[in-house]
Amino acid sequence: METVVSGIRPTGRLHLGNYFGAVVNFVKLQSQYRCFFFIADYHSLTTHPHPSDLHGTVRQVLAEYLACGLDPNQCTLYRQSDVPETAELYLFLNMLAYVGELERSASFKEKVRAQPDNVNAGLLTYPVLMTADIIIHRAHKVPVGKDQIPHLEMARNFAERFNRMYGENFFPLPQPLGTEGEPIKVPGLDGSGKMGKSEGEGNAIFLSDDEATIQRKVMKAVTDAGPTQPHQPKSPPVANLFTLLKLVSSPDTVHHFEQAYNNCTIRYGEMKKQLAADIAAFTAPIRQRIDAFKNDDALLRRVLEEGQKKARASASATLAEVRRLIGFRKF
Ligand code: ADP
Ligand code: TRP
Repeated sequence: METVVSGIRPTGRLHLGNYFGAVVNFVKLQSQYRCFFFIADYHSLTTHPHPSDLHGTVRQVLAEYLACGLDPNQCTLYRQSDVPETAELYLFLNMLAYVGELERSASFKEKVRAQPDNVNAGLLTYPVLMTADIIIHRAHKVPVGKDQIPHLEMARNFAERFNRMYGENFFPLPQPLGTEGEPIKVPGLDGSGKMGKSEGEGNAIFLSDDEATIQRKVMKAVTDAGPTQPHQPKSPPVANLFTLLKLVSSPDTVHHFEQAYNNCTIRYGEMKKQLAADIAAFTAPIRQRIDAFKNDDALLRRVLEEGQKKARASASATLAEVRRLIGFRKF
């Protein structure tokens, strides 16, 4: 059976982009593959979170994973820092990764622009740690959103380089995997493009947002002056709203507003009201489960203990082989 690995950094609450771009896929895959899903808390250290914030966001993301339907009996659900083998593999891979190629990565350049006063070496080697996460379980497939594709390409390069250097096809080359096979990008509400937690207040809808918050954010979403001709191409902000509608509303609702757009009778206020109601209906049961899981320390502890055991068993088997291949052998 093929192996699937993916993780999410605990940098805040999960939003609809994380859900439709990644987590919903995890839930589907868990019954079809040998799956490892983790909370990437090592990765989140690049932004220097306060210790209590780190602990809190790990709890939040774990509760959210469970609330979305990740089932510890079907997949291995763990916290990255509970598997120190990852850090050892990261060290080995750092010897194979060239500074030049890491500096050329678009996401590194973006981080340098975004946080010029904290360009730490962990940011530079972020894709190396991500590679360690993936190949430590010798994964074949990695479900992620579109934005992570360049990182996966780097992961394939590093895995291939290891294989070449140590003369064995030890690591499979990990391929991206999206919903229906295609990675997707969930748009935000500010008209600009991607939904993300760092794109400014109001752009993202979080799974744990209450109904009033969802309504407020959606009603403020950017639109345009409205179509003036039948079948007019949609402007990006309006196309974004339709994309969101398709994710949470019934085909009939989508059809209704498509038709209204195409014959120029659409009222964006009405469409937004419907979108907000459909998002709220969609997230309500998830939100209730998040609240229940978040307050169940015994359950969260048990999930992480079991996850750690299963993840370390897999990771340490890989590490033993890696050490042997590199030449660390017993006398
Ligand atoms: P953010 O962009 O909010 O910081 P992360 O970078 O932590 O989110 O992303 C975690 C996972 O969610 C990744 O697999 C990423 O590809 C996916 N993801 C994040 N935002 C979106 C989005 N708008 N559309 C699709 N997938 C997304
Ligand atoms: N870089 C990913 C993100 O920002 C999180 C991540 C860390 C990850 N390690 C991974 C995703 C391994 C997939 C596989 O969302």
